[in-house]
Amino acid sequence: EKDNLAHLLDKYKDRLTTLPKQKGWMGENLYLYQGFWYRSYGPFSVQMTMALQDSYQPHPANIYLVTPPKSGTTWVKALMFATLNRARYNQNTLLPHPLLISNPHNCVPFIEREFTKKTPNYVQENPNPHTARLFSTHIPYTSLPRSILDSSCRLVYLCRNPKDVMVSWYYFSNKLTKKHLTPMTIKEMFEVFTKGTLPYGPYWDHVKEYYKASCQHPTRILFLTYEVLKKDTFNQVKRIAEFLGCPFSKEEEGKGGVEEIMRICSLESLKEANKDGEYNEGVSNAVFFREGKVGGWGDDLTNEMSKILDDITNEKFQDLNISF
Ligand code: A3P
Repeated sequence: EKDNLAHLLDKYKDRLTTLPKQKGWMGENLYLYQGFWYRSYGPFSVQMTMALQDSYQPHPANIYLVTPPKSGTTWVKALMFATLNRARYNQNTLLPHPLLISNPHNCVPFIEREFTKKTPNYVQENPNPHTARLFSTHIPYTSLPRSILDSSCRLVYLCRNPKDVMVSWYYFSNKLTKKHLTPMTIKEMFEVFTKGTLPYGPYWDHVKEYYKASCQHPTRILFLTYEVLKKDTFNQVKRIAEFLGCPFSKEEEGKGGVEEIMRICSLESLKEANKDGEYNEGVSNAVFFREGKVGGWGDDLTNEMSKILDDITNEKFQDLNISF
């Protein structure tokens, strides 16, 4: 698969050299494409977005979770997977629940990774039931492959308070163990986050585009926030189930079906299942699970940083009705 990836991305290297470039996140050179900053290698690179734009073909039944990184992607992957597959994995079937033994990123793969597989799940005639229909991506709305926009595929979008996202980026990035990445201080992370020079930044533009699209296409795009999900997980899981086309029946609800999903996907449960092993080279499974707090930024940001981030958020989101 590594060879597939290198081969695929290589086709776009000439276009890469025509794009604006800036040193940003973890000392990497990032490239500006269609208004957003990208890495220059690997599955989450600008070349991958171009490749997906050129030739990605979705199955019409696919449902995509779209997020800016560090917004709670892993949690919502777990919630969507557990909700959609709840009939398959319950006490009666005795099958081990995949989320108790594996990373949610393996249950709901990124299209950025899946695309280079020899037989990607999304084109299999008989897709692997573990991953059937659910995929995810970080690609901004402007750059989503036309084939997804033109299809009938539904999207779930998740975002989070920018201050918690920034702090989450900070802890996550410094735990990555790839040698060429330069660790960042909180101040440096603040600088790249406010400038937008980190993968899929600027954060605010990512959110704004999907927010607007969800207002235009409410039946196709479900817009969620981490904060509301935390505060009212029960009703939000029911909302997700309805959107996925598998609402909880009164009977299921009466038997505690929603609470069961919440339990399997809780931070404690996922942390335990992912305490060992690597998701990818230089990326441990454990790195995706930390505090999961709303407003945890208070421990790490100075008053000045907080004020600047609030000012940007107020300005960028002034005509949006988002409650963090
Ligand atoms: P913190 O760093 O604030 O703790 P992503 O999945 O998009 O990379 O986002 C990571 C953030 O989601 C981390 O936030 C992580 O702790 C939090 N998270 C992961 N699993 C979670 C869960 N089951 N419930 C709530 N938050 C979770």
